[in-house]
Amino acid sequence: MEKRKVIIDTDPGIDDTYAIVAALSYKGFDVLGITVVAGNVGLDNCVVNALGVVNLMNADCFVYPGAQTSLNQLDNFETYDLKTSVHGEGGLGSVTLTPDFSKRSETHAVDFILETVKENPGEVEIITLGPLTNIALAIRKDKETMKKVKKIWSMGGGVRFGNRTPVAEFNYWADPEAAKETYALGEDIEINMIGLDVTQQTRFTLDDLFFLQTECGELGALLSEMSNHYTKIYWDSLRITGVVVHDLVAVMLAIDPSLSNEDDIFNRVNLSIEHEGMCRGQTVVQLSPNGMYEDAGPKNANVYMGIDNTAFRKAFIKLCFPKAYPMYIKYIL
Ligand code: BDR
Ligand code: CA
Repeated sequence: MEKRKVIIDTDPGIDDTYAIVAALSYKGFDVLGITVVAGNVGLDNCVVNALGVVNLMNADCFVYPGAQTSLNQLDNFETYDLKTSVHGEGGLGSVTLTPDFSKRSETHAVDFILETVKENPGEVEIITLGPLTNIALAIRKDKETMKKVKKIWSMGGGVRFGNRTPVAEFNYWADPEAAKETYALGEDIEINMIGLDVTQQTRFTLDDLFFLQTECGELGALLSEMSNHYTKIYWDSLRITGVVVHDLVAVMLAIDPSLSNEDDIFNRVNLSIEHEGMCRGQTVVQLSPNGMYEDAGPKNANVYMGIDNTAFRKAFIKLCFPKAYPMYIKYIL
């Protein structure tokens, strides 16, 4: 089977780490590179974390540092003002990974994306797990090349609610202009939005985390430990136990879209992003059937609205911890 060519654009991040681990474990992906954007923590910190994950997974791919600020701040020469991250000071909860600095490329993320797409026209899929700044900068630099991206899978947005504001999800809120410019490309290429509507339907339970800790070796124990920070925040802020690992959902759906029921995928709908004022970062999506909002605008996105949580959890354990999988099915599910 020919492998799918993939670039992961990310801001690690606890859930980004789960997502990168899954992408690197999947034999059907050829991960060509990991491009990094500031988001959950500052750029340098995210790069070090990405280098740590590459080392942990012994992966044969490079890490490409990208944008340090959002488009708007770049345009206005402002510095990035990061608020306290829900991912902890270093971005990975209480865990510190050992970076493999030999995997840090001198090429800027934007140039890497463009060069790779030029070399592989119509073949490269990009999975975005952070603010869309690198993607938008690549579009600004060479839109024709970006039209040759095969498809984008993007964790971000939310039709029904937000998590950074009542209406905006963090990644798109952090750089709404970039999200807007990226989705404008959706008229030419396939862009799949995997937003909070779908990610919030998933949950790793405390039993899952216990299982990772005790039965899934060093890697599982690290992921579980990393999640303690997240678990506390979910409990404190939402009074839910367990964790929602947003970015992992995007990777698992990119691997296998059938984790979502066909009725929960809204293909070729209009998606707009608000970039100002109280609704900054909000995704406005036309999900209603034909006829009601005919003037909604171009059909520029596929929007995922549901997922089978049990199938998602099973698929992750089976992919990343195949030896422990039978025990998971027997005792945890
Ligand atoms: C997104 O925001 C970040 O905190 C996570 O890494 C994820 O990409 C969820 O809203
Ligand atoms: Ca992220």
